[in-house]
Amino acid sequence: MTAESSLHLTNRPRRLRCTSTLRSMVQETQLRVADLIYPLFVMEGEGQKVEVESMPGCYRYSLDFLLKEVAEGFELGIGAIALFPLIPDAQKDNAGTESYNPDGLIPRTVRAIKQQTPEIVVITDVALDPYSNQGHDGIVENGKILNDQTVAVLVKQAIAHAEAGADMVAPSDMMDGRVGAIRKALDQRGFIDVSILAYSAKYASAYYGPFRDALDSAPKFGDKKTYQMDAANAQEALKEVALDIAEGADIVMVKPALAYLDIIHRVRKHTHLPVAAYNVSGEYAMIKAAGQQGWIDEKKVILETLLSIKRAGADLILTYFAKEVALMLR
Ligand code: PBG
Repeated sequence: MTAESSLHLTNRPRRLRCTSTLRSMVQETQLRVADLIYPLFVMEGEGQKVEVESMPGCYRYSLDFLLKEVAEGFELGIGAIALFPLIPDAQKDNAGTESYNPDGLIPRTVRAIKQQTPEIVVITDVALDPYSNQGHDGIVENGKILNDQTVAVLVKQAIAHAEAGADMVAPSDMMDGRVGAIRKALDQRGFIDVSILAYSAKYASAYYGPFRDALDSAPKFGDKKTYQMDAANAQEALKEVALDIAEGADIVMVKPALAYLDIIHRVRKHTHLPVAAYNVSGEYAMIKAAGQQGWIDEKKVILETLLSIKRAGADLILTYFAKEVALMLR
């Protein structure tokens, strides 16, 4: 009789936690570098790398520096990046005209990345906000965001990105019908292999604040509640996901991630498509801030957070921690 047998238990879950080898045998969820998509901010200029104040450790890169970051990430096993541009005010207008300039910042960046690192999956964001003098994702008229007129511009933007060599376009605007319109236009031009990563369940969230600092893209009036979803709604997420799938999405996304783990879980049950989740700028900033204060063990919290997003049901995670995690998992 050993010391601790007084309870005569049939089941002792602790048996399988006795050693790290046993624990790793029964581990249900794994975090892999291949699951991560690295969001990157690009700006005009040369030889520049400017830290985003509210996102310590995250930078806006000029193209030459961005290429280095992409190469280093790829070397570490990061197979996909998502690009976001900082557009000078002088190029912004209400119709987001610069968004489909074939020689604009994003097309030039895509071409350069594809030349340097052809194997990396390049994902471009399709939405007007970085290009809009209103800071909205669509065209504004009398204080309203116009849906169908905006979709026409988003289609041109997606085509410009595909022509530059993007592997995947990611509409993040939440206009109705944009996935179908983009799919149709891509196919008509022969871009049958360009995929659509749809921001399907994108919530009107206060967690996007630091991202809007990074791109100087905060709305000039009002908020985004007439197109992004209400944080209170879950059924509506499934409706949005079903529509995007019917319209031809290849991957559906939930955004943000942490306050929406239940949504990720529901979407996972609802579809056979890969599910992505966006661990957004505000989630990044909170962990960095507490880590800098020494209030949490930052590295452990990062890994636990990303693992929880996978456990909820995400196959892919967009995260500003991608490179740090790739180094940790190496
Ligand atoms: C823009 C867009 C946003 C993010 C990704 N694409 C901001 C917004 O909708 O206002 C946020 C990403 C983040 O916070 O990390 N369409």
